[in-house]
Amino acid sequence: MSIHLHAQKGDVAETVLLPGDPLRARFIAERYLERVTCYNEVRGMLGFTGFYKGHRVSVQGTGMGVPSISIYASELITEFGARQLIRVGTCGGMQPHVQVRDLVLALTSSTDSSLNRNTFGGVDFAPPASYRLLRAAADCAARLNLTTHVGSIFTSDIFYREDRSLTDRLIQHGVLAVEMETSALYTLAARHNIEALTVLTVSDHLISGESVSAADRQSSFTGMMEVALETAVGES
Ligand code: HPA
Repeated sequence: MSIHLHAQKGDVAETVLLPGDPLRARFIAERYLERVTCYNEVRGMLGFTGFYKGHRVSVQGTGMGVPSISIYASELITEFGARQLIRVGTCGGMQPHVQVRDLVLALTSSTDSSLNRNTFGGVDFAPPASYRLLRAAADCAARLNLTTHVGSIFTSDIFYREDRSLTDRLIQHGVLAVEMETSALYTLAARHNIEALTVLTVSDHLISGESVSAADRQSSFTGMMEVALETAVGES
């Protein structure tokens, strides 16, 4: 039993979807999975295992930010044998053509987190997505007719950033969107030689100020979850 996931070996599938919000983990499990069991409730960070189209899949909440996802991803990999981790989350759009409700597939993520500089002695590491998962997700999203952007994103330690200059610089360099977890997820995947992918829905926009209405929230997230699940079971 690990510190933050009170599960038994074998309780977690090799493929795990990672929403930040544990209640979204429950929503995905209840809506899409069959024969579901809940394997973790510690700190309310719910984790479930079930079957999607006959394939065993887990869904684990990660909380927000680099430290939180790093804890859960590390334990899933090293204690429970996870081999594919697919983050499903929201992001702030950073390009005019990346609009609210669109999907973003993260090729790589830059960050202001100290995680990688600490690990690499001050050098910047560019952590990549799994190309296999990325290609499968892009193909699936195209088949579902979802407007999808593939490119670089930014993993931020700061949600309420007062100084706008870094945001503007990132926009100038073509960064598609900002969120708070992917750089750590991809770096851990590289470290442990497993596959990772981040699939995001644009929930708000840093240029237009627009955000997804409460009413639209669920339906705009449904496409992301279907892309992630189809990618998870390799039926894209
Ligand atoms: N910033 C950081 N993380 C986010 C945002 C944002 O604007 N939107 C959704 N996740």
